Amino acid sequence: MAPGRHNYSNFTDELRARLSVVDVVGRVVPLNKKGQNYWGCCPFHNEKTPSFSVNEEKGFYHCFGCGEHGDIISFTMKHNNMDFKSAIAELANMAGLKMPDYKPRDPNVVKREDALFDICERAAQTYAEKLFTPDAAHALEYVRRRGFSDEEIKKYRIGYAPKNNIIANKFAESKFLIPSGLCRRGDYGMYDFFRDKLMFPIFNAHGKVVAFSGRSLDGSEPKYINTTDTDIFHKRQTVFGFNFAREAIHRANRSIVVEGQIDAIKMQVNGFGETVAPLGTALTEDHIALLCKSNRNITFCFDGDAAGQKAAARACNIVMPFIRDTSDVKFAFVSGGKDPDEILKTSGADAMRKIIDDAMNLTDFLWELTNKNYVVSTPGGRTQAEKFLDAQIEKIADPELRKQYKQEYEKRKFQNWHSWRRAPKTVNIKLPDIDVITKNTLVYIVNKYPELAERYLEFLGTLGVDFDGTAPELNMDINGAEKYLVSLKLQRYLEKLNAQKRELTTQLLAGDDTARDEIKRIDSEIEKFNEKLEVLISI
Ligand code: UTP
Ligand code: MN
Repeated sequence: MAPGRHNYSNFTDELRARLSVVDVVGRVVPLNKKGQNYWGCCPFHNEKTPSFSVNEEKGFYHCFGCGEHGDIISFTMKHNNMDFKSAIAELANMAGLKMPDYKPRDPNVVKREDALFDICERAAQTYAEKLFTPDAAHALEYVRRRGFSDEEIKKYRIGYAPKNNIIANKFAESKFLIPSGLCRRGDYGMYDFFRDKLMFPIFNAHGKVVAFSGRSLDGSEPKYINTTDTDIFHKRQTVFGFNFAREAIHRANRSIVVEGQIDAIKMQVNGFGETVAPLGTALTEDHIALLCKSNRNITFCFDGDAAGQKAAARACNIVMPFIRDTSDVKFAFVSGGKDPDEILKTSGADAMRKIIDDAMNLTDFLWELTNKNYVVSTPGGRTQAEKFLDAQIEKIADPELRKQYKQEYEKRKFQNWHSWRRAPKTVNIKLPDIDVITKNTLVYIVNKYPELAERYLEFLGTLGVDFDGTAPELNMDINGAEKYLVSLKLQRYLEKLNAQKRELTTQLLAGDDTARDEIKRIDSEIEKFNEKLEVLISI
């Protein structure tokens, strides 16, 4: 097996990310933490005082006694006397991961890919050299104006594709000019795809140049052109800056996703090493899947404009199947028509950090998105909103987490979409209309005993009865009349309490536990006034 050719490298990265070196070594070597490192007696040579150190953060062990040094994989190989494949199988088992079954790759495919890597690498070198030639004065001036230092130009291998067909001419003998996407065939022969462009190499996860993104320098559109897909470059699976960000994503335990590649570079060099960007504007499931191999904590950072909002909605839609109970997915927006690059330039890294720190969590973002996209003040709008929310929640893989999301949004819908439920005390409960017999009785009383009308004015006013006019004569003295009014008042009050109780019961069933206490209070009130009513009727 040619080294690296079976390409376990993604899997070993995943193992390193999942398993702590302290846990793996600690299973067989008793370790104690002292300062930054863990220490134990070296399993590879005989010793009584510990000189074997394990560094959790770096993922390495080192013996100061015998010089043994390595990571979880070399430890497992050496300690168990295993070959590489058995060691990763052992570790996969430990991590609860399934071993990927890699078939040996077709040597012809491997050869072809190597040739493509090779021409891309040589093109990158050619473009990089060109940037410092007189032809590229305008490009270099532009790069400087955008604030790139020599060091950054070197690290990201920024270059210049001249106006002439430099690649087609220089590598005329290569069979891979077209398959690499660097050249095209026209009526007059081969020509370069990138001409008079500022060149950003696109690296694969292992840091190999697989494609390019060329920025126009003369203001012509489109602003960026990218290599179209080739055998070694799949735009939908490639995340710009990932090769540089990998380590930082592990260390920071999160990734930041920005919209543009210059933004990603500027973020990386300003202390946000964990930043990447999709290529072109559309984020794909594959991009998220790649980031989620490291961890499931992603902060999306979009421009504050309509396009940014749309991109955020798309990101949210894509990320839902990836979330776990430990995930921390957030949405940050850069306002004022700026992008991260401009924020960093005009306001500095602290301002940018604040934007990242203030990012909205997924739960809030999805809620806000729902409320923004649908007219939740109408039953139809609420129905659409509910369907949208349900569809998003449905994507969550973990059933328990799905349940928690459902409950969370039930609560929010309840508290926000039905404002009348929020303030049960001010609820305007409509009591049944006064029947005609009661009305006649009241009209009789009011006309016959004005002093009672005066005394119970407020109560009578709540009944919605027209007291003008005449009523049939009743045989009722003033005491009887007052008793009638008081008992009516009590009855009305009990009806009101019962209506309130019905509302609160609905709320309780909908999950609002605060209604429970209120119902208790109303129950005891009802009991009290029922007693009063009984006493009143009995005398
Ligand atoms: P923007 O238009 O926001 O550009 O596109 P930008 O990143 O701020 O670029 P600068 O700062 O003006 O140089 C965001 C991203 O969309 C892709 C590029 O990846 C870009 O970084 N894009 C944009 C294209 O692929 N083609 C285009 O024509 C424009
Ligand atoms: Mn920009």
